Amino acid sequence: MQISPSILSSDFANLQSELEAVKNADWAHVDVMDNHFVPNLTLGLPIVESLVKVSPLPLDCHLMIEDPDRWAPGYAEAGASSVTFHVEAAADPRRLARAIRAAGARASMALKPGTPWAPYEELLPEVDMVLVMTVEPGFGGQSFMADQMSKVSAVRESVRRHGGQIWVQVDGGVSAETIERCAQAGADVFVAGSAVYGAPDAADAVEQLRALARAHAC
Ligand code: DX5
Ligand code: ZN
Repeated sequence: MQISPSILSSDFANLQSELEAVKNADWAHVDVMDNHFVPNLTLGLPIVESLVKVSPLPLDCHLMIEDPDRWAPGYAEAGASSVTFHVEAAADPRRLARAIRAAGARASMALKPGTPWAPYEELLPEVDMVLVMTVEPGFGGQSFMADQMSKVSAVRESVRRHGGQIWVQVDGGVSAETIERCAQAGADVFVAGSAVYGAPDAADAVEQLRALARAHAC
């Protein structure tokens, strides 16, 4: 059970100290948005290169960008420990996952809420994690989509059948109120932005989320 706080909800003027504030977490989730794949613009490779140098946590880069085939391997080369691309945007997800792994990172594929799991199940041998979005990608602070829990269960079931150590991540609206359902459905990596950085003490929020996830592991 791993917690990956999303720095999207942190103070962008003080990213280093915001990372230090959650150093008891397992990962730091970095949302890269290009204003094309999603209607929002955040940060890109130069900032990730800087974060790698100062982060106390490995970086979990979630790329909400067009043409990840071209750009995603660069995040792995920059030192991100996990690189997630969206299957809706990738021209050749198999080749892309292999390129990310060859560059030394864990490869991960993300599915938007409207994207079915079945067509992508065959890609499981190529990835280390599957991200099931529980909001429409683009913004922090949105409401959790409980209807995605059946997809989380389906991915977990595929992983079980396939074997190996493939993680199932959820991202969007994950909080103390919703994390139990995610854990019960089979998620084991939990992204939380507003629930961590909006809390009075971010490190306490991480501990609380982890305890809830552990208590409800499937
Ligand atoms: C949304 C991003 C999320 C976002 C989650 O597109 O992928 O990582 O930061 O924020 P919360 O936890 O506030 O829903
Ligand atoms: Zn994200």
